[in-house]
Amino acid sequence: MSGHPQHTVGEDFGDGRAFWEGRYAESDRIWSGEPNTALVREVAELPPGRALDLGCGEGADVVWLARQGWTVTGTDIAETALVRARAHAAEAGVADRTRFEQHVLGASFPEGTYDLVTASFLHSPDVSFPREAILRRAAEAVAPGGTLLVIGHAGLAPWETYEEGDPHLALHLPSPQEVLESLRLPEGEWDVLTAAEHDRVQHAPDGEAHHRRDNALKVRRHAA
Ligand SMILES: C[S@@+](CC[C@H](N)C(=O)[O-])C[C@H]1O[C@@H](n2cnc3c(N)ncnc32)[C@H](O)[C@@H]1O
Repeated sequence: MSGHPQHTVGEDFGDGRAFWEGRYAESDRIWSGEPNTALVREVAELPPGRALDLGCGEGADVVWLARQGWTVTGTDIAETALVRARAHAAEAGVADRTRFEQHVLGASFPEGTYDLVTASFLHSPDVSFPREAILRRAAEAVAPGGTLLVIGHAGLAPWETYEEGDPHLALHLPSPQEVLESLRLPEGEWDVLTAAEHDRVQHAPDGEAHHRRDNALKVRRHAA
C-alpha cells in the first residue's frame, strides 16, 4: 500500500492543501529529518547567503542550510509541516537564521531575491499543481550570481505499490533537461552547472534500503 489517501486519477484537489495536510496528518513525522544528499552535495561549496526552500516540508534542508551559515526562508502549503519545521529549527538552535511562511505556490510566492533557491521533490499529484510556473517564478527570485537548484524524483519509490486510481501513477516526473527547457531562461544570462540523474539509497518505511533514481538541475544566474 502506498499509504496515501485514495483519489481518482486526474482529480483536482483544489489548491492541494487538503491533500498535503492529510499526508502530514498520517504520522508525527513523514520525512527522515536528514537533509537531502543531493542538496548537501550541490550546495556544500557555495558561500552562504540568503536561501529560499520551496516546499520545505518538515524543514530538514532549511535546518541544514542554516547550520552552514545561510539565512533561510522555508515555505510550504501545509501548516502542519511548517509547525514541525519551526520546532526543528528551534531544537537545532537556528531559529534566528530561519523563517517559515505558508504559501500556496502558484498563487503566492515569498517576497525578495535570494542567493540560493531550492526546490527538493516539489512534486504533487494534484493535477492543477503549476510546477513549471512555480519554478519559473523561482528563477526570477534568484539574485545576480545566485543559484537555482531543483531536485526531483526520476521514478516512483520502488517499495510503494500504487493501486489503480492513485494519482501518483499519473504524476509526470520531468528529466533535468525538461525542467531546464520549462524554465525558459534568457539566453546568455545563466550557466547550467548540473543537469543529471543520480542514484541514492533511500529507506522504505520498514527500514529496508533501496536504490532510487533522482535528478538535479543546478543553474547559476550571471553576476550583474
Ligand atoms: C514531496 S514533499 C518534499 C518535502 C521536502 N522538500 C523534502 O525534500 O523532504 C513536497 C512538499 O511540497 C509541499 N507542497 C505541495 N504543493 C505545494 C504548493 N502549491 N505550495 C507550497 N508547497 C507545496 C508539500 O506540502 C510537501 O511538503
